[in-house]
Amino acid sequence: MICLSTANSIVPLLRNIHQYEEAIIFPAYEEAVVGSEANLASTRRLRAEHVEDECFAGEVTEILLAIGHGEAVENPEAIGFMLRGLFENLRRHIAFEREHVLPMIGIVD
Ligand SMILES: [Fe+2]
Repeated sequence: MICLSTANSIVPLLRNIHQYEEAIIFPAYEEAVVGSEANLASTRRLRAEHVEDECFAGEVTEILLAIGHGEAVENPEAIGFMLRGLFENLRRHIAFEREHVLPMIGIVD
């Protein structure tokens, strides 16, 4: 049950967060750092990472749905590797946003 609800939540949750960042946070950041090409490159990269992470999350969703519906786990190491990959990507992405993007628009943890 937890597996299925998690599987069904990951992609919509990421999409909502990404839409908010791309509609509100990134434009505010780009305005704050106007004239700096390096910082515009940062938001281009962050937007591309959003797409990659949503694709990656989609693959994780398929696996979790299969497990949640009772399919046997044939290669648990591969699943663990995939989950760690997604989590690591997300952690790195969020750390960059917290350290570099949010302070520029007046949001500090
Ligand atoms: Fe983001």
